[in-house]
Amino acid sequence: MPITREEEEALNDHFLINSYVEGFATSQADTILFDQFRSTPNQDLHNLHRWYKHIDSFGSDRSKFPGPKRNSLILSVNKIKVTVMMNNKIEKDGPKQVEQQQLEQQLTEDIVDPWNVQASSNKGIDYDKLIDRFGSSRIDDALLERFEKLTGQNPHHFLRRGIFFSHRDMHRILNLVEAGKKFFLYTGRGPSSDSMHVGHLIPFIMTKWLQDVFDVPLIIQMTDDEKYLWKDLKLEHCNNLAYENAKDIIAVGFDMSKTFIFSDVDFIGGEFYKNVLKVQKHVTFNQVKGIFGFDESSNIGKIMFPAIQAVPSFSSSFPFIFGGKKDIPCLIPCAIDQDPYFRMTRDVAPRLGFQKPALIHSTFFPALQGASSKMSASDENSSIFLTDTANQIKKKVNKYAFSGGKDTVEEHREKGGDCEVDVSFMYLRFFMEDDGRLEEIRQQYSSGQMLTGELKAELIQILQKMIAEHQERRKSVTDEIVKQYMMPRALNFTIKK
Ligand code: TYM
Repeated sequence: MPITREEEEALNDHFLINSYVEGFATSQADTILFDQFRSTPNQDLHNLHRWYKHIDSFGSDRSKFPGPKRNSLILSVNKIKVTVMMNNKIEKDGPKQVEQQQLEQQLTEDIVDPWNVQASSNKGIDYDKLIDRFGSSRIDDALLERFEKLTGQNPHHFLRRGIFFSHRDMHRILNLVEAGKKFFLYTGRGPSSDSMHVGHLIPFIMTKWLQDVFDVPLIIQMTDDEKYLWKDLKLEHCNNLAYENAKDIIAVGFDMSKTFIFSDVDFIGGEFYKNVLKVQKHVTFNQVKGIFGFDESSNIGKIMFPAIQAVPSFSSSFPFIFGGKKDIPCLIPCAIDQDPYFRMTRDVAPRLGFQKPALIHSTFFPALQGASSKMSASDENSSIFLTDTANQIKKKVNKYAFSGGKDTVEEHREKGGDCEVDVSFMYLRFFMEDDGRLEEIRQQYSSGQMLTGELKAELIQILQKMIAEHQERRKSVTDEIVKQYMMPRALNFTIKK
């Protein structure tokens, strides 16, 4: 029997003060309960919803939660007894069920935060609405023209095609460039798995382009602490992953003389930590509760963590690079899920005498199954990983990439495919650089001249080449090279007063 609304409300109360079914650590009881839900619990049951999304993020690792494997679970909250039998396990893996979940969920708003990305409609996230909700600005033609004028280059296709769609204070950064002054770039990665997926590359590809065209220093934060606090992973493991993931990041091609990468676990101290403390003292629990949805059951590491992601935005956190200067402006490229951290940062910065960081936000590289969720490392079949072989890429695209094509060749030839929902076409927008060819494909596919198989074949070829080249570059990134990028040191740039 599925869980009733009354039971869900009782569970919601339970998760107000407990992180997990059995208190503050995951156990098999979480796995049993999770398996009873056909879809994500409604958002109005905030605590239950948070618990569900968190347990969901473990993927197949749920079967490894500690505790005896049991057949039933009885939970009593507020005099309501929730009884769960294991043989009720509800399958929810196929695309049909995902669709069903989305229908049942009936979200009124897209959810976009650092831990959840879920569109309220199967057309994907409404990015225009997000700009209004978050209060950022659209990357418009006027901004693109300024980019072109100041760099003397055609803006990167991520900018031209609206893949990076939103910004905060980008004009302030371009004003500096115009005046011949420098800024610095800051971005990051939360290392939670051996392998990054192609979606993770998006901000790094953009960052490399920005570093190249503006010739500026770059800071990359590896938040191994964040992943330890949020996931059921050992601290040493997260720390090792920071160094492994750094190899993938270095393989994107950042200039070593202008790039500093650090692991929070190994680096934090000194001026950086002083800035963390200043942020912590000026942001209340109530504020982070409002921004991040923390509550009384969140571990206290999570509650203070946003201060750690905030302070790389301040140049005085890195005296060996910026000589103690407090006022060198920062530009952060990231996907829009990270914006809550930087709304908090921008709010607190002036109170500490720091500049607000500027941002440019990207849309999400979608899951293979469709644009209503982002590609996520915790669902293997939703993602193309940087470690995938040519054959795996081919199989995943052919099997899982949601198609906007019609059911039969005849119908497709007659009515054409729908590029708006076709995941393979969306991926081509990210990775096919040739505007002319992309437009040709769009026209041929929409008119029915090109079939889904042909579209997929074109994508497979591009992904196979791109990932093989990445793997080749990564092979040459030795532990010694990683050490050099991660050594606190002066970087090669000059500041004009
Ligand atoms: P993480 O490891 O979740 O993601 C790393 C970067 O990739 C972006 N991203 C995506 N971009 C496009 N499509 C996707 N499907 C997709 N999934 C993830 C994220 O927005 C991020 O830019 N807390 C951060 C690490 C961090 C950070 C930062 C990120 C620390 N400081 C400064 C950006 C800027 C995290 O866990 O990212």
